[in-house]
Amino acid sequence: MSKASFFSRRQALVGGMSSAASVAFGKQASAFRRSFYSFQKDQTVFPFGVASGDPDTEGFVIWTRLGTLPLLPDQPPALPDIVDVHWQVSTDSQMQRIVQSGIIQTSAVSGYTLRVVLQGLQAYRPYWYRFTALGAQSIVGRGLTLPHQGAAVSSLKVAVASCAHWEAGYYSAYQHIADDRPDLILFLGDYIYEHNINTAHYPGIVRSYQTSTASTLDGYRWRYALQKTDPSLQAAHAATSWLPIWDDHEVEDDYSGVWSSHPEEQVRNFVLRQRAAYQAWYENMPVRPSVLGYGREYKIYRRFYFGDLAVLNMLDGRQYRARQPCAPGTVGRDGHMERDTCRDLADPNRTFLGQMQEQWLFEALKDRSVLWTVIAQDLMVASLRAPTPEHNGYRYWTDTWDGFQGARNRLTDALAYLSPPSPVIFSGDYHSHFVSEIRRRAHNVKSQIVAPEFLGSSITSFGPPYKNIVSVLPENPDIKFFDSRKRGYILSEFNRKYVKTVMRSIVDATNQNSPCSNSATFIVERGSPRLVQV
Ligand SMILES: [Fe+2]
Repeated sequence: MSKASFFSRRQALVGGMSSAASVAFGKQASAFRRSFYSFQKDQTVFPFGVASGDPDTEGFVIWTRLGTLPLLPDQPPALPDIVDVHWQVSTDSQMQRIVQSGIIQTSAVSGYTLRVVLQGLQAYRPYWYRFTALGAQSIVGRGLTLPHQGAAVSSLKVAVASCAHWEAGYYSAYQHIADDRPDLILFLGDYIYEHNINTAHYPGIVRSYQTSTASTLDGYRWRYALQKTDPSLQAAHAATSWLPIWDDHEVEDDYSGVWSSHPEEQVRNFVLRQRAAYQAWYENMPVRPSVLGYGREYKIYRRFYFGDLAVLNMLDGRQYRARQPCAPGTVGRDGHMERDTCRDLADPNRTFLGQMQEQWLFEALKDRSVLWTVIAQDLMVASLRAPTPEHNGYRYWTDTWDGFQGARNRLTDALAYLSPPSPVIFSGDYHSHFVSEIRRRAHNVKSQIVAPEFLGSSITSFGPPYKNIVSVLPENPDIKFFDSRKRGYILSEFNRKYVKTVMRSIVDATNQNSPCSNSATFIVERGSPRLVQV
């Protein structure tokens, strides 16, 4: 979600809450953090925690980054040029039964990040890992190997999160994700924000990025470093394996393909910035080296099978897109409200996923070897239209799939024609809880419902004004639940009959120990895309 306009966010600041409950729950959370920190022996070498991700049936990626404290912008860590890092993998959380170990080097070339792709482990079981370097030891992290494709699996619990502006709040949502003990964490973008919050408009920031807008490799690296000092984020990374993708703010607000949202930015210059940003993302995410594609491309769309229960398709909704619709010359290069008289909106020649990724996804939709087909990506698929009485039509926010309606029709046609097993869509970006039924043709009540969509607010980032969107919901009856006032995430439990999805909400993102509650719960039965609120 991006700049203010029709969906100005200023009002979103109103609604900070505190309660007796937050005090009570806060004590519990504090106790957890104390125990977590007692584990963290050597922050001065491992101040950014550890992470695991991108599992397969015999391993996963383990990650860490070395640093020195105090953390200062524009100042490199006081580390040797090259550091030997010892890694260990154990079958128990106390690291008593070590099953694999090794040494890997890291240096300033990779920003003192490192990753090890574990192999030869047993399928579908947790392992624990840690790192040692320069006489210091990291915290212990946990990862999960996947069940074999086709193996009978009874359940899968995923947390789905997005949008964690450092300045907008504390990361208690990440702590609650860790406490919920999901099998996997799907992160759908905006892990960092490249820009600072304008305090003239939003005076309620809780902490600062301390530097100006990131546009260089060092600038992006700094933001990942700063954010990764947060104990709640470290807890979520240590809890289990992540499947991360990006959205726009890992590079620049509302960029689209190779086009910056800033009209004065030339494509050739923006591509250099984008490449620096992608490199920093890669360095700081527990993803496989295969993400490094060819040439300029970082191939982050990828697929994970969870036995015979589910396939998880993680998509890239930014890198391959056409430019923003109806943005001739130097105007409208960012997300904006566009009337339906704009021919670009429905133009089938405009792409959202890019041809290669789209074909890759559509091939996956033919797969009948699983019970659930998850499509996890960064932008809202559901259409949200706002009436424009002056020309008897509607306006749409261009940065979501609403700006690429021709491409959305191809996706919904594929879902209708190919009829994959029980598709479920997870999305990010909008800083609001949205739960919707996706039709083959948006706003046509006679059109087939092809999938449910869950969008789980934001970890901290401010939401759009609640009343503005509530006022247009009667024009958008396929949106079954909406709340932009709460920060939060999604918790979904798949089994062989249904998926239960809880929209989790943080009471107050300005409270480091905020409690969490359930805003809404939905059941989707296997074989039916309809939402049932319970
Ligand atoms: Fe965001």
